[in-house]
Amino acid sequence: MLRILSRRLVPLARPRSLAAQSVRTISNTSVARSDALFVHRDSTDNNATIPFEFTPENLKRAKEIIKKYPPQYKKAATIPLLDLAQRQNGWTSISTMNYVANLLEVPPMRVYEVATFYTMFNRQPVGKYFLQLCTTTPCQLCGSDSILETIQNHLGIKPGQTTDDKLFTLVEVECAGACVNAPVLAVNDDYYEDLTSETTIKILDELKKGNVPKAGPQSGRQNCEPHGELTTLRGEPTGPGFRVRADL
Ligand code: FES
Repeated sequence: MLRILSRRLVPLARPRSLAAQSVRTISNTSVARSDALFVHRDSTDNNATIPFEFTPENLKRAKEIIKKYPPQYKKAATIPLLDLAQRQNGWTSISTMNYVANLLEVPPMRVYEVATFYTMFNRQPVGKYFLQLCTTTPCQLCGSDSILETIQNHLGIKPGQTTDDKLFTLVEVECAGACVNAPVLAVNDDYYEDLTSETTIKILDELKKGNVPKAGPQSGRQNCEPHGELTTLRGEPTGPGFRVRADL
């Protein structure tokens, strides 16, 4: 069957069978509204009438940060100040953005642009522990799917959701930059690496108790050394000029 499109004849696409469509499950990432990343809608807990200002200590820090930039480029402090505001407030509300804009003497839109571009700024409330599970290919190959399932089952939430006690919020993220220690879960500022279902549950239980488990590889290895025995750099380090100059 043919139809005319821009004066060219092109074959009409055949409808796929329902059976064919149902097996094409490509991703299990939660569905987010397409405008959720950049649109602000006033709500009872996020509107411009809710007051926000830095604590005296944070205001002092903010002034120190601003001083690092030439006076005519104060706006360069937007990201560190938004970060400071998020750390104080727990998330980046419209009031925190307006406050930062006021402090930097820039139109609020300049700050909204930054806050909506960088996903590190949570523009919805998150739990005390913000869990960012990497599910990109290296982590997935090392079992991040089962870690995701473990977290979901253990906490009873799906990506994008927060537990009823407001302790945990779970999101899936792209590469966390620690592939060599995959699979990786970031809890607030800490990375928990080399995870298994067992170690993940242990971490979550410790957090529930209010303890902060030791961050880093949970497999017992140091940083990103090989899992087995060393395969390189096993001898004494050679001196400068090794195999280059005999007189060194
Ligand atoms: S893919 Fe997970 S940290 Fe890079």
